[in-house]
Parts: sequence; C-alpha cells; structure tokens
Amino acid sequence: MSSNDNNSNAYSDFHLQFIGGEWQKGKDDSINTDTNPYNGDTIVEIQQATKDQLDEAYDAADQAQAKWAKTTPAERAAVMYKVVSILDQRQDEIVDWLIKESGSTRIKAMVELSSARAITLEAASFPNRVHGEIRPSNTPGKENFIYREPIGVVAVISPWNFPLHLTQRSIAPALALGNAVVLKPASDTPVTGGLLLAKVFEEAGLPKGLLNVVVGSGSEIGDAIVEHKAPSLVSFTGSTSVGQHIGELANGGEYIKQVALELGGNSPFVVLKDADIEQAVKAAAFGKFLHQGQICIAINRVIVEDEIYDDFVERFLAHVKTLNVGDPNKQDTAVGPIINEKQLKSLKDKIAKAQDEGAKMILSGEIEGQVVPPHIFTEVTREMDLSCNEVFGPLVGIIRAKDEDDALSIANDSMYGLSSAVFTADMQKGLRFARGIRAGMTHINDISVNDESNTPFGGEKNSGIGRFNGEWVLEEFTRTHWISMQNEPRQYPF
Ligand code: TAP
Repeated sequence: MSSNDNNSNAYSDFHLQFIGGEWQKGKDDSINTDTNPYNGDTIVEIQQATKDQLDEAYDAADQAQAKWAKTTPAERAAVMYKVVSILDQRQDEIVDWLIKESGSTRIKAMVELSSARAITLEAASFPNRVHGEIRPSNTPGKENFIYREPIGVVAVISPWNFPLHLTQRSIAPALALGNAVVLKPASDTPVTGGLLLAKVFEEAGLPKGLLNVVVGSGSEIGDAIVEHKAPSLVSFTGSTSVGQHIGELANGGEYIKQVALELGGNSPFVVLKDADIEQAVKAAAFGKFLHQGQICIAINRVIVEDEIYDDFVERFLAHVKTLNVGDPNKQDTAVGPIINEKQLKSLKDKIAKAQDEGAKMILSGEIEGQVVPPHIFTEVTREMDLSCNEVFGPLVGIIRAKDEDDALSIANDSMYGLSSAVFTADMQKGLRFARGIRAGMTHINDISVNDESNTPFGGEKNSGIGRFNGEWVLEEFTRTHWISMQNEPRQYPF
C-alpha cells in the first residue's frame, strides 16, 4: 500500500474523462485497464472516450479559449503559480502515482516531478514575455505592427515514459500563453500523463473547458484528434513512426495545421582518450539506466576511443554490477520495470539480435516479470541493430573508435539527432567536437539526459521539429500577425 492510499485528501475518480470542465464517463465500449508494470496490479479501469466526446472536448476548448485569451497576463500567471504550489503540496502523492503507474524508480519520479515543476514556473513568466514589434515601412504613411497572439486550440498527444513532465511541458506553456488544450495521454499512463494534471489545474482554478483530457487508444482516436478542424497546432511527443504519420495528416489533410514533433533519439555518448574515465563511467551508467533506459535522450550508443576502451569497459562493468534492480518503490532501486509486454518483447528480440550479430554480451541476468537487468555488449559496430536503432531499455552497446575523427563520424552516423554527450579533459576540444555533432543538444562532460526549462529542447533529422522551453516554446505556441496601418491616403498606380 502506498503512503497516500490513506490520505483522504488524495485525488480520486480516475476512471472518468475530463471534458468541458466536467468529470464524465467514457462512452466507448472499450476499457483501458491501467496496470502497475512492476506487479501487474490493476490500478484503475477507464471506459474510453468516443469520437463524439472528442468533438465535445474540442467544442469546449474552442469556446473557452476566446475568453481566456483576453485575460490579463497576471491572471494566467497566477494559475501557473498555484499549480506549482499544488505540485509541491502533493509531492508524495504524485511520486507514488509515477512509481505505480509508469514503473518509475523513486529517483526518476523525483527528477520528473522537479522538471514538471520547473516548466510550470517558467510558464508563469510567459504571459509577460509575449511582445510584439513595430517595423518601418517603405510605403509612405504606413506603420507595421507585429502582434503575437495565442495560437488557439492545441492538441497534445503525450508518451508514457516521462508522462507527467512531457505532458506538462506542452500544456503549461500552451495555457499560460492563452490557448486551450485537448490532451490525449498515452494508454499506459492515463493518470500521470493526463488525469492527474487535470485535477491539479482544476484545483488551481483554471476555468472550465481550457484543459480537456480524453482517454482513448491512439490507434482508435489518434487520427481524429489530429485531423479535427479545431486545433491549430498538434504537439506530439512519442515514436518517430507515429510522428511521421501525424506530420502527414496535419499537412496533407483537409485542415492544415502546425506540428511540434518530439520523437525518438539515438544519443551518442563519446569518451575521448583524455577523459576522466571514472566520471565518464558514472555518467554513462546514470545516463543509460535512469528509467531503465526508456528516455528519448537516454544514452543509446557509448563510443570510446581505442586507447582507453578496455579500461573504460572494465570499470563500467564493475560499476553497473553494483546497481540495485527490482522494486521501483524501494529507495535505492536504480533499475525498475519495463512499461509493458510489447516493449519487453522488443528488448528480448534486441538481446538475441545483438548476439546473432556478433556483439559480446559481458553482462546479463534473469528477466523477472517486466524487470530487465542491465545488459552490456562490447565489440559493437556501427552497423549493428544496437547502434542503428533506439533501444528504449537497459541494454547498452559499447563501440570502439579509432580516434577522435572516427568517434565523431560514428556519433553522426544516425538518422536521429536529438541529444548527445562528449567527455574530455580539454574543453576547447570538447566544444569543437560538440559543434561537429548534428543534434539539437550536446553536453560536454555530462550525460545526454538534460532538460532545463529555459534552454531549447528538441532535435533534428528524424528526432523531430520544434523546440520546447524558454522563448522557443513561446514562439511555438503563439501565432504571428502582421497588422499594418495606412495613416494617409496611399497613391496607387491605377
Ligand atoms: P507511440 O506509439 O508513438 O505513442 C506515443 C503517443 O502517441 C501515445 O499517446 C499513443 O497513444 C499515441 N498514438 C499512437 N498511435 C497514434 C496515432 N495513430 N495517432 C495519434 N496518436 C497516436 O510510442 P509507444 O508505442 O508508446 O512507444 C514505442 C516507441 O516509441 C518506443 O520504443 C520509443 O522508441 C518511442 N518513444 C519515444 C518517446 C519519446 S519521449 N521520444 C516516448 C515514448 C516512446 P496510445 O498509448 O493510446 O497508443
């Protein structure tokens, strides 16, 4: 039993949808059975939403948004500050939910909650940071004004791995900037990825209709969410394949809309020969195994210069063997369960494939339930499946690079370009190397897993388009409107 099961103030009724500010039953025949990935317990059963309920959610959002856009910056900021204070007050309750619903370890749940808190605090500053411009005109008597307005209704589709944060990272800026939201959380995490945040915003006094949470399967209602007339922007975080599909629908359907796509990654973690090996080992372990490796910016490829390869491998192996694996609820667990059977099967296939392809498995262990202990493979080449594809699990391949140039060439040999990292004692070399990487983010002497609410987060190539956080998301979630004013009669040629 979690500490909050006895808390009478704890949120409840997570079997309902949140549409137009009302908690209502889903009307579809199908049921989402939300289970604990560690022990298989059923947490809540949710009757899923129909397309009619989705329409209802969009209507509510549309109506509420016009009024919300006219509120003062202070009113919108106040809601964000209230949300921050509720996240603080309900910290234990939220951490418990993250553990039982998404299989987060305690460490990861705290990291996630603090990231969600940080972006909410940042979003509280957004209403006052929106500003327009006055531009000169070549037409006599004309003034040019550039307005920044809310974009309108935003559709948010979020994933299960960092459900609270990756949802909040879209909805807090969207709402703070005067938009309304229709959110579809991942089917594995309907509570932490949606319904829980709806409770928080409701408690914070967000007016009805501005945030709607529709629980349904992506394959059933996903297309309808994207193709609907109401949203001007679809903010999607998830796999590259679904992101590609959403991009096609959003730009090739009846209603053209903007998309912000945060997709898969294949982050290289490069250790150059002059690096502090001990520090690189600790970083590699944390950046790879946090949340069992189920993070888009997790280390996916460890690339080590030849001269220190054997030393690195030996020390990495020794360190990873000390990690506690199992019950995510325990304080000192580093590696908890995989989210679902489908992901588990994909990892089992990857383990078999790595061996078939000739990688040397130097650490493995028994898979119990959905808990996969760390697996380490050496003598991995850039052509192998472990190198080419996103692993999304606690398996890691270590690639040998001949020298710095070879390491850079391997690092860039990917269709993804999200995050990356390089370890070296020479900061100038680190900077040169970092600038050579085709990715949205590179961290020198740190892990690839970094997200700060005031720095641009996003990727290139098949990792997506658009940036979160700071002024980058401010641009993403507003629209630009050029308004000119002709102050004296203009002379037309005819
Ligand atoms: P996805 O299938 O991409 O799921 C992400 C979100 O998209 C979920 O809310 C999902 O809903 C929804 N969705 C699925 N099909 C859709 C459609 N046709 N239209 C609109 N929305 C749709 O990811 P997954 O299956 O959970 O994970 C598979 C792989 O995705 C992982 O192995 C990993 O590589 C990658 N992944 C990446 C990230 C990040 S942060 N980049 C996060 C999670 C997963 P349902 O849950 O209802 O299907």
